[in-house]
This record gives sequence, C-alpha cells and structure tokens, in this order.
Amino acid sequence: MSFLSIERLTQQFPDGQGGMLTVFENASFGIEKGEFVCILGHSGCGKSTIMNILAGLAEPSSGVVKMDGFGVSGPSLDRGVVFQNYSLLPWLSALHNVTFGVKAREPGWSKAQVEEHSRKFLSMVGLEGDVVHRKPSQLSGGMRQRVSIARAFANQPKLLLLDEPFGALDALTRGTIQDELLKIWSGTEQTVFMITHDIDEAILLADRILLMTNGPFAKVAESVEITIPRPRNRTEIIEHPNYYAIRNHLVQFLGKRSKELAGQPSDGDNKPVTVRIDKTAPAEAEAEPEHAPKLRAVND
Ligand SMILES: Nc1ncnc2c1ncn2[C@@H]1O[C@H](COP(=O)(O)OP(=O)(O)OP(=O)(O)O)[C@@H](O)[C@H]1O
Ligand SMILES: [Mg+2]
Repeated sequence: MSFLSIERLTQQFPDGQGGMLTVFENASFGIEKGEFVCILGHSGCGKSTIMNILAGLAEPSSGVVKMDGFGVSGPSLDRGVVFQNYSLLPWLSALHNVTFGVKAREPGWSKAQVEEHSRKFLSMVGLEGDVVHRKPSQLSGGMRQRVSIARAFANQPKLLLLDEPFGALDALTRGTIQDELLKIWSGTEQTVFMITHDIDEAILLADRILLMTNGPFAKVAESVEITIPRPRNRTEIIEHPNYYAIRNHLVQFLGKRSKELAGQPSDGDNKPVTVRIDKTAPAEAEAEPEHAPKLRAVND
C-alpha cells in the first residue's frame, strides 16, 4: 500500500438550487514516501477540495484517506499546509512564525535549539539577519511566502500540502522560490503534494503530475511520470529530449482532453492511467500504459 492512499473519494456539495453538485467521484490514487506530486486541472475541478481533505480540514462525502496505513481525520502536525494567501500570524515576526510550530512539535527542545532549527530553515529560503525580526506586514509578498515554506518544512511534517503557493508572485521571485523549494525538499525527502496552474513549474518540480478532468464528476484521469533526471534546473531541463514531449502532452490534456473526458459515467474505482513518455529509451522499452491514452501530441 502507498504511503498516502486515497480510496474512492467522493465530494458532493449543495448546488444552491436545492440539488447536489458532485465535484468528483470515486477518486483513487496513491503517493509514495518522498515523492513530489503535482496536480493540474482547470479552475473548479476540485483540487483544493482534495487538498483540504488530505489536510484533514474537510470531510469527504464518502471514501477514505490513509497515511502510513491510518485513516486521516482532523488536522495534525504530521501534515503541513501552505496556502496561496500565506496565512502567517500577523502579530509575530518571521522568526517567531517559524519557532511557534517548532516549539509545539518539539516540546523538549531548549529555546536556543528551537531558534537555531528555525533560523536554519529560514536561511535555506534566503532569509537571514535582521529581516527575520520583521512582522509579515513589513515583508514583501515573496518574503512572506518564503516564511510560509520555511515554517512548513521546519515542522518536518510527513506530508506537505501546497495549494498554489506561488500563484501571487511575479515570475522572477517565483523562479527563485521554486529553486529554494527544490533545495529544501531534496535535503529532507519529505512527501509533497502540490496544486499548481503552471505547467512548467509542475515539470520542474514533480516526480509525477496528476491530471484532473473538468468537473462536475471530475476524475484524476492520468498520472504522468516526469522522466527527466534530478537535479533539475530550469535552463537545462528544456534541453532534455523528454521536456517538450511531456509538456505537449500536458497542454493537450488541459486544452482538449480534460473537457472530452469530463462528465463521463463512473466505472467504479477511478484510478488514473499511468503515462510514461521517454524518448531516451529504446522504442520497444517504452512502457505502454494499459488502456493507452491517445498520445497524438507527442508522436512525431
Ligand atoms: N464549501 C463548499 N460548498 C459548496 N460548494 C463548494 C464548496 N467548496 C467548493 N465548492 C465547489 O466545489 C468545486 C471545486 O472547488 P475547489 O475549490 O476544490 O476547486 P479548485 O480545483 O481548487 O479550483 P481553483 O483552481 O479555482 O482553485 C467548485 O465548483 C466549488 O464551487
Ligand atoms: Mg483551488
């Protein structure tokens, strides 16, 4: 069984007109320990809803989420969340936003230990010196997001959930923080589940990208392996023979197939099809998924 196992998850909400809206139905997928998984899908398909359920902040209509074999219910220090809107405590300095969680997690540590540990994670995202004593309102958006990431990693949760953490940032800051995120993640081997709208960001960061069809009745239709070795860097990965093949596949899915596959009746357990695109492998060795999806975009 996977480290994180999502089994037949269904979410319905009142549609505001006396009926029910089925956001997604029987979604089933797994995430392995240490994996970095991104999820892509159009606005409203249910990504944040899935993340809130994984975080224990919301209950699904049916289905279960298991982490390490145990059912997830309610929030826990084992699951850290970074939201798009930073959600720092405004009355605490950057440093104390980080030490706050570390103290709760490690009650036996001395004040000095807590501070040293917290400063280490802040410096990994480029925040050092006097700046750590500033309050969130005195920091730029990029700095606030760095504090959120440092705070989440400093707590060393088993699972880190990131909901469009860089959505509000300009491209340059975004690029720098993506690099910092990769650095901090590769040092800790934590399991990460991240929502993003940015295809290039997902290819840079993820081991695997889950693709969701449009709602209602959205499905996690595909699991696309990112067959580009690490360490990755944004200027070099675009030279890799698999980069554009994978990118085209994702663009085709979001542009076309996410609509075509939407709203189709469910056949029970909706597990994603694994898609592995590897142009560096000899043709016969390339793994063909069962029920091979149409790879029109990548045939040349
Ligand atoms: N508490 C709620 N009550 C009723 N409907 C809800 C609730 N939360 C979400 N929804 C509906 O569920 C659907 C999925 O919402 P969700 O926020 O998960 O989408 P998303 O994929 O994260 O979208 P975005 O990319 O825009 O953030 C939407 O149609 C939304 O209106
Ligand atoms: Mg969302």
